[in-house]
Amino acid sequence: MKIAIVGSGYVGLVTGVCLADFGHEVTCIDKDQSKILELERGVVPIYEPGLSELVNANVAAGRLTFTTDLPSAVGQAEVVFIAVGTPSRRGDGHADLSYVYAVAREVAEAVTGFTVVVTKSTVPVGTGDEVAHIIGTVNPEADVAVVSNPEFLREGAAIEDFKRPDRIVVGIDDERAREVMAEVYRPLYLNQAPLLFTDRRTSELIKYAANAFLAMKITFINEVADLCEAAGANVQEVARGIGLDNRIGAEFLHAGPGYGGSCFPKDTTALVKIGQDFGSPMRLVETTVSINDQRKRAMSRKVIAACGGEVRGKTIGVLGLTFKPNTDDMREAPSLDIIRGLQDRGAKIVAFDPQGMKAARLLVEDVDFADSAYDVAQGADALVLVTEWNEFRSLDLERLKSLMKTPVFVDLRNVYRPHEMARHGFSYVSIGRFD
Ligand code: UGA
Repeated sequence: MKIAIVGSGYVGLVTGVCLADFGHEVTCIDKDQSKILELERGVVPIYEPGLSELVNANVAAGRLTFTTDLPSAVGQAEVVFIAVGTPSRRGDGHADLSYVYAVAREVAEAVTGFTVVVTKSTVPVGTGDEVAHIIGTVNPEADVAVVSNPEFLREGAAIEDFKRPDRIVVGIDDERAREVMAEVYRPLYLNQAPLLFTDRRTSELIKYAANAFLAMKITFINEVADLCEAAGANVQEVARGIGLDNRIGAEFLHAGPGYGGSCFPKDTTALVKIGQDFGSPMRLVETTVSINDQRKRAMSRKVIAACGGEVRGKTIGVLGLTFKPNTDDMREAPSLDIIRGLQDRGAKIVAFDPQGMKAARLLVEDVDFADSAYDVAQGADALVLVTEWNEFRSLDLERLKSLMKTPVFVDLRNVYRPHEMARHGFSYVSIGRFD
């Protein structure tokens, strides 16, 4: 099939390259000429394991091309994916749909023949109706079916998630689109991924409900972790004990410094707004948003407490800056709140992240960036492990301790074992565990 993807950001690029890898003929479109030129040269603007190799293989095979010329790519396509950003709108937290609607107008003018227009971006209920309305108004002759097809991939595991999804959700209001979408995803349901057809509004809501539920699950275990600390219990064992119940499931029960990233914070806030708009408040999600915001700030207080209540003039080493490992994405990362909180109390910050330092330099001030975990430890009064990169899982603890001024280790991801850290002479604080 001939497929055009509008928006070569995270979701657009991964979708495009994976669909090309399935054998479709894909053109990825972006307004940003320099990004397109880089992609044509095989330079991928984001860090995502395996993505660059897959881009290069599919470009070489002639199945994947890049362009800024939307009308030409859309004019030739049987399926057009809209994969532009829907950030939080400044001021009110609604999803900002201006990019989606602008693309809908351009697509309307460019389509030829029957075309399926697929919204891949995360959009509030009713956006598909508005996209269809815009296309019909701009070009009454356009023969278009507007489909919702939300994406559930995780950063850091994007290609694996796209190629082996738990399910594919497709929301259609025009039966002609069913066959086309089944053809787009044929290689996946050969892999037995369930293809769930539903109506467009339901599909749009599934995406928000899924992300909000996962955010709630994390927030629940984070609160249980606080209770474990107060009551003298172990959150990892509570998580295991409840996660073995199939109705609950073991995933997304890792207590930590609060969720971040480009999706959960924005999508939970947007769902709260959607609920308010429809007069059907999403109270659990509202509470989740506020608990998580408070938690990210509370983590700096945890570090201060571990340092004996005072960090003024002390050097705190931060291990990991990105919102999770295997990405260079710093959006809404807990590290940002933690660093600000510690700086407000007079601490000096030294930090290292395997991929996130380029983005972090633009977001934080007065931070010294180091070249490794051991550089961070040099002369530090305390270390805080914020992001669980693999290279932080097997640190040489003796070496680390010998480099530090005082051996205080705050492990916000429960990577190490309390008794092991005690054995190495660390004063060790983790999340929801007492020994
Ligand atoms: C999330 C969803 O998991 C994807 O299914 C979805 O497609 C994506 O949002 C999106 O809407 O585009 P992502 O933001 O890449 O994916 O990352 P996650 O792995 O879900 O992690 C989100 C945050 O939750 C991270 O800060 C992570 O550290 C935190 N987390 C996750 C925990 O604190 N504990 C857990 O048990 C799991």
